[in-house]
Amino acid sequence: MKAIVVTDQAAGTAGMTLVERPEPQAAINDVLVQVHASGFVPTELTWPSTWTDRLGRDRTPSIPGHELAGVVTALGYGTTGLSVGQRVFGLADWYRDGTLAEYVAIEARNLAPLPGDVDFTAGASLPISGLTAWQGLFQHGRLQAGQSVLAHGAAGAVGSTVTQLAREAGAYVIGTGRGADRQTVLDFGAKEFVDLENDVLEDVGRVDLVFDVIGGDIGKRSARLIRTGGTLVSIVGPTEARPAAGLAVDFVVESDRAQLNEIVQRVRDGRLRTNIGNVSTLDDAVAALNPTARIKGKTIIRIRP
Ligand SMILES: NC(=O)c1ccc[n+]([C@@H]2O[C@H](COP(=O)([O-])OP(=O)(O)OC[C@H]3O[C@@H](n4cnc5c(N)ncnc54)[C@H](OP(=O)(O)O)[C@@H]3O)[C@@H](O)[C@H]2O)c1
Repeated sequence: MKAIVVTDQAAGTAGMTLVERPEPQAAINDVLVQVHASGFVPTELTWPSTWTDRLGRDRTPSIPGHELAGVVTALGYGTTGLSVGQRVFGLADWYRDGTLAEYVAIEARNLAPLPGDVDFTAGASLPISGLTAWQGLFQHGRLQAGQSVLAHGAAGAVGSTVTQLAREAGAYVIGTGRGADRQTVLDFGAKEFVDLENDVLEDVGRVDLVFDVIGGDIGKRSARLIRTGGTLVSIVGPTEARPAAGLAVDFVVESDRAQLNEIVQRVRDGRLRTNIGNVSTLDDAVAALNPTARIKGKTIIRIRP
């Protein structure tokens, strides 16, 4: 099969190459999926799991990409709950070969059915941003209707989903980002926008929940904006500062079939918009994943036409 592989951590996305690889085998409780569309998070080439297995052994050449939408073509021994021919989407294991390939072997529990009226490109854009936003807001942030949310990077993949889900849950959302993204963020449902390069972040006053996708100084300053009993949720590592009278939580997204179902249902009925900036083929994926200009929205690789 055709696949993108990486072998050199220092080279980053520039080190991606399109090669022929053996088709993976479905292990116990796995399914084999013919990938139709794949999502890639640019930072994944900095994650240790891209380069080593769970015992710390080199696992290169590794296939990146952890989001997929496709069709089940085989079941591993003992696999239940999914059938051959079924449309699925989901989040692939960080430590296994990923989805920038024609086939992926993946545990069935990491997948959910993809309804027939949601196309593969949309399906592949949802797992990481959808699950991360859902878990950060509702599990870790325990968001309630009427609370206020500061959604950093609200024009980005995760931030735009945070903004939409929080708004739907009855929160007052203040989105942040670069000045050029103001209208995009308001269109995703934020009531206010903070241009992090030109406005004063502290002018937003106190909020119940900060969803931090940026970290560094922005994360530190955000900790001081949390109201008593509020939460700073970070997806970019442990926070350097904690709220004086609230919680700080950092987490890595986990797969969850019920949550994937909730997310895709919202796409079907128009409560949640995808945030796709560029769609490319597998043959053109290396160039698409090494853009020379800023792209708004997520890049999706369409593996099959
Ligand atoms: N822990 C987890 O489970 C988890 C899950 C998903 C993602 N992540 C991490 O979360 C981060 C965001 O992911 P994503 O996929 O949402 O990325 P993304 O689509 O690039 O979104 C990030 C947004 O924030 C903006 N931004 C970044 N730094 C900024 C700054 N200093 N000032 C103003 N705007 C800024 C970006 O603008 P520009 O494009 O102009 O920079 C972009 O609009 C990444 O580091 C990713 O690795 C973690």
